[in-house]
Amino acid sequence: MDAARAINHHADHRGFAGVTGVLCGLVFLLVGRAKARLAADTAQLSSADHVVDVGCGPGTAARVAARRGARVTGVDPASTMLRIARLVTPKRAPISWRVGTAEALPVPDGSATVVWALATVHHWQDVDKAVAEARRVLVPGGRLIAIERQSPPDATGLASHGWTLQQAESFATLCRDTGFDDVSVAERGDGKGSVWVVSGTRR
Ligand SMILES: C[S@@+](CC[C@H](N)C(=O)[O-])C[C@H]1O[C@@H](n2cnc3c(N)ncnc32)[C@H](O)[C@@H]1O
Repeated sequence: MDAARAINHHADHRGFAGVTGVLCGLVFLLVGRAKARLAADTAQLSSADHVVDVGCGPGTAARVAARRGARVTGVDPASTMLRIARLVTPKRAPISWRVGTAEALPVPDGSATVVWALATVHHWQDVDKAVAEARRVLVPGGRLIAIERQSPPDATGLASHGWTLQQAESFATLCRDTGFDDVSVAERGDGKGSVWVVSGTRR
């Protein structure tokens, strides 16, 4: 596959550390709310759920899930992001923050009912390994949800941090090949806020 069209076309991003990492974390706090609500609506969360928020950043979606009654594990490789997440999250919230990656989730086998990944798959180093990890930590019947902003093939800069339809379809195919059923690609939102939602159920 052409590197510009790879599912993880920003795998070489240098990560979120230092002052730049803090600034990015603050921006993610502002822009992540609609995606977080969409993820929670798509998952139809209940108090029986344990959500693993992969690439949780400053934790916006993790807090939405906790407010809807779920238990949450927020995982991110960037300690700067997790520091912001801890700072802005009420202590009583049922959320554990863990340093880790999608490729090696610090979560036991079959312990999650939902794994979601918001605006992060395009950064993963090894998407095949990460989808297998999502399957490992999910219970049978558990749901995987990935959300990425829509990004035209010729986008540059910040606008390129997303997926074309072809990238969303490639991720869906990988999920089917890795043991997920009922995998779908849906378009949500409109204009600049449009996103792809890829979801499936662990076999
Ligand atoms: C654009 S931010 C999105 C953060 C959050 N999900 C949100 O929607 O606000 C992408 C996040 O993915 C994380 N990330 C990068 N590579 C990762 C990997 N291999 N596994 C898990 N997370 C990763 C980054 O540290 C960053 O916090």
